[in-house]
Amino acid sequence: MGETTQDHDVLVIGSGAAGLTAALELAEHKRVLVLAKGSLTGGSTAWAQGGIAAVLDAGDTFDNHIRDTMVAGAGLNDRAAVEFVIEGAPKAIDRLCELGVPFNRESGDLHLTREGGHSHRRIVHVDDATGWAVQSALLKAAEANPNITLLPHRTCIDFITDRHREQFSAAGRVWGAYALNEETGRVERHVARATVLAAGGAGRCYLFSTAPRGATGDGIAMAWRAGARVSNMEMMQFHPTCLYNLEVKNFLITEAVRGEGGRLFNPATGERYMEKYDPERMELAPRDIVARANDDQIKRHGLDYVHLDISHQPAEFVKEHFPTIHEKLTSLGIDMTKEPIPVVPAQHYTCGGVVVDLKARTDLPGLWAAGECTESGLHGANRLASNSLLECFVFGEAAADDILARWDTLEEPPAILPWDESRVTDSDEEVVIKQNWTEIRRFMWNYVGIVRTTKRLERAKHRIELLKQEVEDYYGSFRVTTDLIELRNLLQSAELIVKSALARKESRGLHYTMDYPETLEEARDTVLVP
Ligand code: FAD
Ligand code: SIN
Repeated sequence: MGETTQDHDVLVIGSGAAGLTAALELAEHKRVLVLAKGSLTGGSTAWAQGGIAAVLDAGDTFDNHIRDTMVAGAGLNDRAAVEFVIEGAPKAIDRLCELGVPFNRESGDLHLTREGGHSHRRIVHVDDATGWAVQSALLKAAEANPNITLLPHRTCIDFITDRHREQFSAAGRVWGAYALNEETGRVERHVARATVLAAGGAGRCYLFSTAPRGATGDGIAMAWRAGARVSNMEMMQFHPTCLYNLEVKNFLITEAVRGEGGRLFNPATGERYMEKYDPERMELAPRDIVARANDDQIKRHGLDYVHLDISHQPAEFVKEHFPTIHEKLTSLGIDMTKEPIPVVPAQHYTCGGVVVDLKARTDLPGLWAAGECTESGLHGANRLASNSLLECFVFGEAAADDILARWDTLEEPPAILPWDESRVTDSDEEVVIKQNWTEIRRFMWNYVGIVRTTKRLERAKHRIELLKQEVEDYYGSFRVTTDLIELRNLLQSAELIVKSALARKESRGLHYTMDYPETLEEARDTVLVP
């Protein structure tokens, strides 16, 4: 039997941009416990390169940013959510400045770079390593706050709900989470009056992904199992330019390289092929278009990669704008100031997720959610570059504000049953986990990737059905480990993606299927109900 923690008011699952934003806001009035799988900097936030989109230039307007977001989202966005986030951007940037994020400046003003799908320069950034600067500043503030307790190396397994009360109830309210202490191997009960889910995306469902190893859709799968609706999971974003390198598998080459003039070429023919796919916007077309163009060139010409070239810009300009990328490529023997960079598309962002409203409320009483694990209506069928960190700040704050506003109506947690380990033993075949993990990522890449067909999706569905039985048997027989918890969640997320993709009988934004190439007149969310 594991320990119980109850000396806090609110539980936050995740220490990325969304989780720490919520925690800092809540900590002004409440005691907050933040749990993270692995280290406190292990989420996608620390890896973000390009920056944060915000209307800060006098020549730009909220309407422009709203329009760009909805054009990228192919009309599937919820306009109210788009307005809410975009109009919240200047305040979010101010707060980050107060926390000491050293954004690049030019003559005192914030320097704004450009990325695909944006009609104006509006991306604030810290060189080409914005995420690390943001993560560090948020973490420093959280560590200094006496009302925040940070517990890394805790892998949440499932929410504690009414079913886990000593006095059983089927109502479905959330009272915190059971989490595996990765250091002791014991399962702890973290009971709370309110819980904020901020556990990031499900990118690791795919063989090639820019996301960190822990992006296994844990939060989405946990919320689904507890009874929350999940929507638009078929809208999986592929970034057009991940470095192609046999040793370094998931290094992103930021979209800002194209924003600052980078061009795409077919290495076999030398053609600047974006002319054929989007002659007006060329390399700065929205991500889905550029990713499909790269994929098409690679498949059509039997290539391993395409070329991204910024060597026509002065060497000093390139080094000054992209110091991290320049250093990394130099260490791999590529001089981006003189030669093109070999790139391929890779999974990058989970647009779908747990359904939330503008107060970050989920369907489950007691559970709020923010960030990449959610579907708030902001991104629609395709996320506009650099809108996701912004969503984390705005919805992280919204969750905290709503919890504080409703505090007096939230009941004290009841007595909760301990984690039941009476029917499990230690696993004797860890190889099963590794095998299944690789298999899922491979068939998701091959059958549920950038270009889909119903036949391929059906194949993936069949594989998932077979694996589900095996993984559930394994889960029911052996003591949990982080690998096993992740495998179960990865498979659950893959099932939600495939189900959603099969349900959409059209091509829209990131979901492109050869069987339904047309876009229907009416844009409708794919909402899955548990
Ligand atoms: P994350 O930062 O991913 O944090 C998730 C947290 O949840 C982590 O602390 C993790 O440990 C924890 N967690 C997960 N599962 C569990 C569990 N079972 N139990 C306990 N804790 C758990 N967006 C932009 O807007 N601009 C950019 O320039 C940009 N660049 C990017 C570059 C890369 C390489 C990548 C991968 C993404 C980029 N994105 C960018 C997307 C953006 O970084 C993410 O969408 C955003 O950081 C997500 O933040 P989050 O707080 O929702 O989740
Ligand atoms: C990038 O820097 O290209 C990533 C930006 C994003 O994912 O929003």
